[in-house]
Amino acid sequence: MGQIWNPSKAGTPSVELADLGRTQRFPSVLDAGCGWGRNLSVFAAGAQRLHAFDTDPEGVQATKKCLEEVSDPAAEVQVWDGDLLTTEPSPPYDLVICYGVTHFLQRHERHIAYARLRSWVRPGGLLAIASFNNLVPIPADLQPLMPDPPSDSTELRAAFADWDVAFVRSHVYHDEHEGGIRHTHSIDRLIMRRP
Ligand SMILES: C[S@@+](CC[C@H](N)C(=O)[O-])C[C@H]1O[C@@H](n2cnc3c(N)ncnc32)[C@H](O)[C@@H]1O
Repeated sequence: MGQIWNPSKAGTPSVELADLGRTQRFPSVLDAGCGWGRNLSVFAAGAQRLHAFDTDPEGVQATKKCLEEVSDPAAEVQVWDGDLLTTEPSPPYDLVICYGVTHFLQRHERHIAYARLRSWVRPGGLLAIASFNNLVPIPADLQPLMPDPPSDSTELRAAFADWDVAFVRSHVYHDEHEGGIRHTHSIDRLIMRRP
């Protein structure tokens, strides 16, 4: 499996996840499409099971190293090269994170991914998901990687309409990456509780 756009190598965690990590402990956490592990590391303190996967082997190695530094020595840490559409983690998890991944998929694949993510969260547990949508069109240089994004927030909210929303933010943001590359995105960030 190869590398696919990951601008977050040295990034800080997303604000809403940093807030969640400050206020709640989760015994078991899965990060689906973990990148370099910036979000999972927030939940390392006190977790007994930290699992993560990504299709990018470089991200997998970086996340392993990151978790070695921040996890409890007694915690069960597993990071593997896996695809959101096919990998088989070990549910249930108290928290599942999937940030910046589903917008790479085609629409029919996203619905498979949403069903898989739903099934991995224990009843009463949380799913945190963030995805671009096309309210601001995907920047031209990213369109080959994201050819079929959700048109707006409706798809993601509808996929979890029966879950309670603990946090939601849909907004436009401006991003700057290495080499001065600038992007503007429309993004949905949702944290939802499984009934
Ligand atoms: C924008 S990065 C986000 C990384 C991380 N979630 C974060 O927020 O820092 C997207 C990540 O999704 C991974 N990815 C893309 N498609 C994937 C798939 N089908 N299954 C698993 N990971 C995938 C990429 O390798 C990359 O690490």
